[in-house]
Amino acid sequence: MTALLEVRGATKSYGAVRALDGASLEVAPAEVVALLGDNGAGKSTLIKAIAGVHRLDGGEIAVDGRPVVLRSPTEARRLGIETLHQDLSLFDNLSARANFHIGREPCRPRWLGRLGLLDERAMTREWTAHLERTRTRMDDPDGEVGVLSGGQRQAVAVLRAVAFASRLVILDEPTAALGLREAGKVLDLVRSLPEQGVAVLLISHNLEHVAQVADRAVVLRQGRVVGQAAPTPDNHERLVSMIVGAHGSMAATVDEGGQ
Ligand SMILES: Nc1ncnc2c1ncn2[C@@H]1O[C@H](COP(=O)(O)OP(=O)(O)OP(=O)(O)O)[C@@H](O)[C@H]1O
Ligand SMILES: [Mg+2]
Repeated sequence: MTALLEVRGATKSYGAVRALDGASLEVAPAEVVALLGDNGAGKSTLIKAIAGVHRLDGGEIAVDGRPVVLRSPTEARRLGIETLHQDLSLFDNLSARANFHIGREPCRPRWLGRLGLLDERAMTREWTAHLERTRTRMDDPDGEVGVLSGGQRQAVAVLRAVAFASRLVILDEPTAALGLREAGKVLDLVRSLPEQGVAVLLISHNLEHVAQVADRAVVLRQGRVVGQAAPTPDNHERLVSMIVGAHGSMAATVDEGGQ
């Protein structure tokens, strides 16, 4: 089967820091892949390239087997790729609802849209339908996001990423600031995406969360993929040693045929 997403030999430096050093990764249609790695391993850098935020210095990204050049987040979105970034990228002075629609507000009709007339009714319809679909309750959707708790802000950002993706959702630490119940809800949401034909690339430091949702875990270390394994409890220790590069991890790398 053709991979939905394929990254080959990605390199990226920030000045003297080599954040990606030939990283390669594949995600199949409707697959949930976890991207693991220690702080600074290059995970966010890699997904920013896929999300159209940063250009790679070298290497290739292909979608459905076709090489693509992603010059902006809009171009990635057009291919059905939505991303929740680690910093959430919310507009604090806007409401949850406004953040949800930002950058893709339905306008009507087209020529009036150019004058800045938004289709409020279509926006309300879209918002309500999405809350229902994801069984989400939002107490004050019209209050400013800036006053929400970390967990509530995260919920808004997750919703936004999940709502509009048609092929791939990339989630960079979606459960990091969440309590048990809220994390559980996000994981349920992740699990529901493959049923809708949407693949997920999930970055998380929480191996338990990864084990609950991912089909496969890929480990990045110092900008390279050093191995992969099914994220079952049995493989927990093996994955940890790949992440930290402890003794034996090179053997694991070879065993797993790190991509
Ligand atoms: N905008 C930037 N400018 C300079 N260096 C950067 C920038 N972004 C990332 N880096 C560096 O690149 C390396 C990889 O960073 P990256 O954010 O991709 O890691 P990460 O795996 O996402 O880590 P974490 O788990 O802490 O989020 C790090 O050494 C980091 O300091
Ligand atoms: Mg990161």
